[in-house]
Amino acid sequence: MDEIRILLVEDSPADARLIEELLSEGKRERVRLEWARRLDEARRKATSGGVDLVLLDLSLPDSRGIGTYELMREANSHLPVIVLTGLDDEELALRAVRQGAQDYLVKDQVNAGLLERAIRYAIERQQIQRELHNLNADLEQRVAERTQQLSVAYEQLAQANGELRELDRLKSAFIAVTSHELRTPLMVINGTLSVIRAKLGDSRPDLMRMLEASVRASKKLERIIVGTHKINQKGEYRERFLRKPAHMADLVQQVVNEVMPFVELRQQRLSVGVARDLPLVKVDPDKIRDVLVNLLMNAIKFTPNGGALEVCARMSRPDQMEICVSDNGVGITEEDKPNIFDEFFSTFRVQHHSSGEYEFEKRGIGLGLALVKNFVHMHGGDISVESAPGKGSAFYFTLPVQAESEPFLAQEEAS
Ligand SMILES: Nc1ncnc2c1ncn2[C@@H]1O[C@H](COP(=O)(O)OP(=O)(O)OP(=O)(O)O)[C@@H](O)[C@H]1O
Ligand SMILES: [Mg+2]
Repeated sequence: MDEIRILLVEDSPADARLIEELLSEGKRERVRLEWARRLDEARRKATSGGVDLVLLDLSLPDSRGIGTYELMREANSHLPVIVLTGLDDEELALRAVRQGAQDYLVKDQVNAGLLERAIRYAIERQQIQRELHNLNADLEQRVAERTQQLSVAYEQLAQANGELRELDRLKSAFIAVTSHELRTPLMVINGTLSVIRAKLGDSRPDLMRMLEASVRASKKLERIIVGTHKINQKGEYRERFLRKPAHMADLVQQVVNEVMPFVELRQQRLSVGVARDLPLVKVDPDKIRDVLVNLLMNAIKFTPNGGALEVCARMSRPDQMEICVSDNGVGITEEDKPNIFDEFFSTFRVQHHSSGEYEFEKRGIGLGLALVKNFVHMHGGDISVESAPGKGSAFYFTLPVQAESEPFLAQEEAS
């Protein structure tokens, strides 16, 4: 700053002269002094600009006490103010400092050096305070903007969440009603078919063949409806399941027997690699059979005629058995992989959809793997898949095996 423009507000000409002299003695700063005897005049000058600092006596003809400082500040709150005071007025000067005055000087004790230093520091402090104030205001503004953006985003998220929950509720309600409504007529159809079968006896083999086809179709429909219903209840579904010690080799053999007719129809080869000396696993056998049937039926469906399938089981860790169902079929794309365990996910292509249970690439409604995953998780296990399009797929699932020291109870209900 080349020249400091000082406004001296002082009604006593003697005091004003004293200050003027002290300022002219100062060595380091060049100053230009303006003098106002009354507060109203000082306020006018402070408002119109051209002033860097105010030296303010609090006792003026038109104002006295702390109010003098307050009115001065009101005229221009950016101007640094140094209060000039008498010995008996220090307390008042301190109040002004607490309210924002940069400093105070006792007139009888002031000298040129003290005055000069007080002026320099007051200006610098005021500048720093102003910069801080601006920074603070800027920060507050940015925080306010960000808060506003966040609250908008939060509202949008809450709304989307609500809509999703509602959609999910509608979906569940729809499935619950549909599966219930479908089951009743299905029971009637099944009942009627068995009555017809009984009445027909051996008299009409041609009609009997047609009847068997209807029974198979109706059984399949029933399986789909039951599966849909089960998966729909999954959220709050805490089906109690019966765990009992089982030999994996036996479970696999039962399932292999069940799916063998389809393997033969498709001229495929199914090899089994399950050691008989594996430890017992404590499982719900129905559910593990369901898991194996679903994985094997998928392997059959998604492998061309003449392909090779395999089911194996081994201990992958001392406390964990790993079962693998693999095929050298069509494989699964990277894009589909993350979704195949989702309910109702079926890499949908109309010409391949539905009707067949074992024919090549006949997709179902996409519940099989969702149920498989659910059942494996119920047992505390996990499932994963390795697959390459054109090469085949391998599904691995694990089951925890209890330490040998823990005896199995004959039959125990899991919580
Ligand atoms: N072994 C496999 N090889 C290739 N693709 C598979 C295999 N297993 C599953 N998939 C793919 O994952 C999808 C989902 O399988 P999932 O068993 O859930 O349904 P789905 O067999 O089509 O119908 P559902 O089992 O309900 O009758 C299948 O439609 C298929 O695209
Ligand atoms: Mg399936």
